[in-house]
Amino acid sequence: MSADALLELRGVDVAYQRRGHAPVRAVLGASLAVRAGEIVGLVGESGCGKSTLGRAAVGLVAPTSGEVRFSGEVVAPIGRRARPVGVRRLQMVFQDPYASLNPRRKVGEQIADAVRLGSGAGVRADVALARVPELLERVGLSAQIAHRFPHEFSGGQCQRIAIARVLASDPRCIVADEPISALDASAQAQVANLLAAVAQQSGLGLLFISHDLSVVRKIAHRTAVMYLGQIVEVGPTDAVWSEPSHPYTRALVAAIPRPGAGSHLPTELPGDVPDPARPPSGCRFHPRCPVVMDRCRTDDPPVVEVAPGWESLCLRSVARDGP
Ligand SMILES: Nc1ncnc2c1ncn2[C@@H]1O[C@H](COP(=O)(O)OP(=O)(O)O)[C@@H](O)[C@H]1O
Ligand SMILES: [Mg+2]
Repeated sequence: MSADALLELRGVDVAYQRRGHAPVRAVLGASLAVRAGEIVGLVGESGCGKSTLGRAAVGLVAPTSGEVRFSGEVVAPIGRRARPVGVRRLQMVFQDPYASLNPRRKVGEQIADAVRLGSGAGVRADVALARVPELLERVGLSAQIAHRFPHEFSGGQCQRIAIARVLASDPRCIVADEPISALDASAQAQVANLLAAVAQQSGLGLLFISHDLSVVRKIAHRTAVMYLGQIVEVGPTDAVWSEPSHPYTRALVAAIPRPGAGSHLPTELPGDVPDPARPPSGCRFHPRCPVVMDRCRTDDPPVVEVAPGWESLCLRSVARDGP
């Protein structure tokens, strides 16, 4: 896809096998690249496969086909063996900051552990601990809190601690899966802005998964829109949000201006996301599409290059001229 990609997914499929049921094809032929210094937003309704794609990107779930590469190396699913140091530079931030921290260890110790793990080579415990104050300050927390335990903090503060711990391993790319959706409204924008700022300051790649479209619009350079396992549109955030090409993106964008409408769709888009175990024929979006044509019910939609670096998976999408 692109020569300068830090994290690259090529034609990734992920199917969950369930006893006695048809497999759930949660991700289908997803291709996406994140470059150094770039923030890519991944949006879509709940159940569209965003978390599965994020987990495949860091090796937490194995693709059934396709490939994930990080700095050119294939990201092998995380097994019992330690990951190669190179791949440790790819880190994930999760939705629930309390669950991602160890409740029994002081936050400073957990951050120091991450310094040691991330280095691969034996960094002495005291050397690792000495880095803790700087890491806490980078996420807007006081160095004084290092000796406290996770339960003593709010969700927003805990997510900052989780981010400090991720930064401790000196990542080059971070995949953040709904990192703000479990936080109080007041903390959401702050934590999103913090993640974006630390990524930018250090030239990291950031894949920011969120159903909060207004936040993605604000921080992401590029936006990928997922529907029922597929990336249906991807392009520069400004272009995608101001003149969306795919009817699903148009529906999502129409939901943005209303305050608090981040997770709701406009009433023009009927129904729910279908069961990915029994997807619709042809275009997966056709049963809900306001501009459906006969061919959409039978034919797979083509990938249309709307403009360079901007693609839409829709029969109706057309290339646009000029800048
Ligand atoms: N471990 C699993 N086993 C079976 N199905 C799963 C599993 N995890 C997710 N799914 C299904 O895969 C689809 C995509 O889920 P997910 O990736 O969590 O979407 P999103 O993050 O966009 O809400 C959903 O239909 C979900 O029910
Ligand atoms: Mg999810």
